[in-house]
Amino acid sequence: MRIKSAIRAFEAVLGDTVLGVSTLGSRKGDYPEVGSVHDDSFWYESKSYYLNWLYLRPARLEAEDVVYDIGCGAGRLLFVAALCGVKRCVGLELSRRLSELARTNASKIRLPHPPIEIRQADASTEDYSEGTVFLFCNPFGAQTLETVLDQIRSSLMTNSRRIRMVYIHPENDHRKTFAKCDWLEQTGEQTFPGARGIPAMYFQTGPE
Ligand SMILES: C[S@@+](CC[C@H](N)C(=O)[O-])C[C@H]1O[C@@H](n2cnc3c(N)ncnc32)[C@H](O)[C@@H]1O
Repeated sequence: MRIKSAIRAFEAVLGDTVLGVSTLGSRKGDYPEVGSVHDDSFWYESKSYYLNWLYLRPARLEAEDVVYDIGCGAGRLLFVAALCGVKRCVGLELSRRLSELARTNASKIRLPHPPIEIRQADASTEDYSEGTVFLFCNPFGAQTLETVLDQIRSSLMTNSRRIRMVYIHPENDHRKTFAKCDWLEQTGEQTFPGARGIPAMYFQTGPE
């Protein structure tokens, strides 16, 4: 077990070094220093670079995609998406400290990448009308998730488009929330070697 954690830690340091960024966070995880509307925020942590890439693969990111990472922390998952050759990336992060870190990181990435915008914001009050792919790595509880899904659905009324979603590390409450969304079709659920059994759920919808 210790060897596996050491390999994971080394992989993250290696990935950060290659990109020229710092996405480690503290070992215990950091909670946002400000409250959210529903007061159900989770803490910052990220999967390894390799796992993040595996989790993203089934979403088949494309050159025209505008990818939102909802609760982007220091940006690791968003940067992996950026390196998949998409059009634009937007990271939303409630924590002032983490959003500043993510912005600094985005300005330092050494490899070619599309524009990356980091917004310090509560996900439940954001405008999603430009996004085509929405990523979540277990950022908050079911109440905020429900509000965010409502906002995304409303954005389809004003800008009809095909969207996809990736939800990494769903808990039971999140599953119940998604089950109520008959406008979303679940296209899969997968776990990967090294993910300790933690799955990602995949969804899509077309114009209603
Ligand atoms: C588990 S981390 C995932 C980080 C990033 N997505 C990644 O995988 O590399 C969840 C992040 O969501 C942020 N968060 C929690 N509640 C939020 C909210 N209401 N709006 C925006 N971000 C939020 C936390 O501060 C934390 O950084």
